Amino acid sequence: MPLLIKNGEIITGDSRFRADIYCEGEIITRIGPALKVPPGTEEIDAAGQYVFPGFVDPHVHIHLPFMGTLSKDTHTTGSQAALIGGTTTFIEMCAGTRFDDPLESYGLWKSKAAGNSACDYAFHMGVSRFDTTTADQLREVVRDGTTSFKVYLAYKGFFGVDDEELFKVLALAKELGVIVTAHAENADLIAQLQAQLLAEGKTGPEWHEPSRPVQVEADGTSHFATFVEATGAKGYVVHLSCEAALAAAMAAKSRGVDLAIECVIPHLILDASYAERPDFEGAKYVMSPPLRTLRDQRALWWALEQGFIDTVGTDHAPFDFRGQKEMGREDFTQIPNGIAAIEDRVNLLYTYGVSRGRLDIHRFVDAASTRAAKLFGLFPRKGTIQIGSDADLVVYDPRYRGKLSASTQVMNVDYSGYEGMEIDGRPSVVTVRGAVQVRDGTFIGDPTRGELLRREPVS
Ligand code: URP
Ligand code: ZN
Repeated sequence: MPLLIKNGEIITGDSRFRADIYCEGEIITRIGPALKVPPGTEEIDAAGQYVFPGFVDPHVHIHLPFMGTLSKDTHTTGSQAALIGGTTTFIEMCAGTRFDDPLESYGLWKSKAAGNSACDYAFHMGVSRFDTTTADQLREVVRDGTTSFKVYLAYKGFFGVDDEELFKVLALAKELGVIVTAHAENADLIAQLQAQLLAEGKTGPEWHEPSRPVQVEADGTSHFATFVEATGAKGYVVHLSCEAALAAAMAAKSRGVDLAIECVIPHLILDASYAERPDFEGAKYVMSPPLRTLRDQRALWWALEQGFIDTVGTDHAPFDFRGQKEMGREDFTQIPNGIAAIEDRVNLLYTYGVSRGRLDIHRFVDAASTRAAKLFGLFPRKGTIQIGSDADLVVYDPRYRGKLSASTQVMNVDYSGYEGMEIDGRPSVVTVRGAVQVRDGTFIGDPTRGELLRREPVS
């Protein structure tokens, strides 16, 4: 059925105007004032509300076997949570370890998502080793439309690559025109600091941050940037968390290194004091890179507003407190790293950014949707509102007031890292390729509507 969204205020990364949007056959076909539409059109009145392009989360883990356990969301729960929060496309890490065959991992991640996602999705292909078969396998993945890679400098011996492997991944990516995303922390330094802290009897979650201080990340960021520079590839630093790493990335960019920067919602909203909460509660806030100081947080907001930070993702990594985070009760290095956020990213960024005066509304759309779509080969199909784009639309009610809570979330996790936090708006309607999937915080659509997005290399 055709769809009309009328009377809303359309906001994109670079424009703002009042108009109706008419969608037919999954795409936007007309935009203009007081559109006349045929009988049988589904009409949504967006008066008093914003209409944003569907939001794109460039950093998501749904299926994640990690640190001796398995993440809690399925593609069913994760994608419906994403949509309730206004995210209509996510890019998931295909996260095989160095012991797994890359093509088998790619097939496994695809099979987990296929037919189970309510929103559209793509993958970053994880590269955890580089042997004689890897280049051909990665070429096949790129031919299949997965045109971004992910490397870890952390998690040595599991996900992590060494320098020879890093060089080879970047050189291949340069040849193929593929962007390489990187978790940039110095793995050896982390291992030394962890061992030292544990030997001193420092076993609680509050010691996670001291085991991965800002120098670990600044060094990892500058190391990755050096390899990007030497190979001439295009790099993207994921979940950059602190001023020191920002300075390292900016120094590389200022000498011409082709490097994009992502930050993630936990680092913008939460700080290190959360991981210091007593009675092991701090374990809920263990993620890597760790939560940082308020000064670091201010640096991230500033760089985001300026556009030096390109994108805001989640690094959604859903682990329960009971039974999963608790695995690290006696040893913080055994706490599964990650915080669930796919449902809350857009509302938190809107509330603590736009509504509280820290972030321009166009930069908000750009950082949470448009720029990720551009960097990862999805634009203009995703990330904007224009004729011919997919009809992924978020009618957003800025008058809504509510609080985040584990008791009301759809993410399949037994706690919320944002429990009790106020939000100043939420999506009232969310569409995926012209079909209404969410109304007023409730998923009401087709749980299998999501499609794997095949992408072309960007450069
Ligand atoms: O703590 C995190 N970030 N968990 C997920 C895995 C990763 O490092 O991205
Ligand atoms: Zn990471």
